[in-house]
Amino acid sequence: MSGKLMIENVYSAYDKADVLEGVSLTIEPGRVTCLLGSNGSGKTTLIRSILGLTPARSGRIMFDGVDIAALPTHKVVAAGIACIPEGRRVFPKFTVEENLRLGAYQETSASLIRSRMDEVYSLFPRLAERRTQLAGTMSGGEQAMVSIGRGLMRAPKLLLIDEPSLGLSPRFVKENFNIVRQINERGITVFLVEQNVHQTLAISHYGYVLSKGRVVAGGTPEELASRDEVKEAYFG
Ligand SMILES: Nc1ncnc2c1ncn2[C@@H]1O[C@H](COP(=O)(O)OP(=O)(O)O)[C@@H](O)[C@H]1O
Ligand SMILES: [Mg+2]
Repeated sequence: MSGKLMIENVYSAYDKADVLEGVSLTIEPGRVTCLLGSNGSGKTTLIRSILGLTPARSGRIMFDGVDIAALPTHKVVAAGIACIPEGRRVFPKFTVEENLRLGAYQETSASLIRSRMDEVYSLFPRLAERRTQLAGTMSGGEQAMVSIGRGLMRAPKLLLIDEPSLGLSPRFVKENFNIVRQINERGITVFLVEQNVHQTLAISHYGYVLSKGRVVAGGTPEELASRDEVKEAYFG
């Protein structure tokens, strides 16, 4: 089983001040690992560092035994890491099907693209019904499905998901967490970044808490739920 990511003592900055100050954590293959942390704690910055968008200033990021910390984004993606970014960007003037196809732009085999698309449609029957609809005319929850589906079109080993529940209605939040669980059950390793503590812990095998650019706790969902760091970070 591949898709193991080890982050070792990563420091990252946008300008002078470090946003990540020595982050270390492990994402085990086949699991859902979550990163909890309040707004501004550095969650998105860590995802950007994994992807090479805001490269780590120091430290190692080992993916299946290879240090990807200094690789350009396209090589990180080619290694098997996909990301569903914060705010679930879709191409509003393209149809659902065109959005999905863009997720597999680097693939040339039509039958491979077709089978991945069928897989996405089996996960999201609603998208299958609306394959010719313009993505920009869909609800926030449906756009979230398009965004997740596009990430899956790459058939990644590891999927990074940045705050999928942000701004969604409670019904779609629940549905989205179910989808994340199903994606993992289909064999994809998931790194889920969230502020929504309870629902995130409910689908995670292991988790970490980030505070001011440092990992302040790590453990199973049961352990984390009882930790003071989690209570402090979220409930004051
Ligand atoms: N593009 C950027 N340029 C400079 N500072 C940034 C940038 N993006 C985020 N930051 C700063 O980095 C810190 C962490 O932000 P971020 O990683 O987005 O946190 P989170 O995703 O946990 O809310 C914040 O203090 C934020 O202001
Ligand atoms: Mg963020």
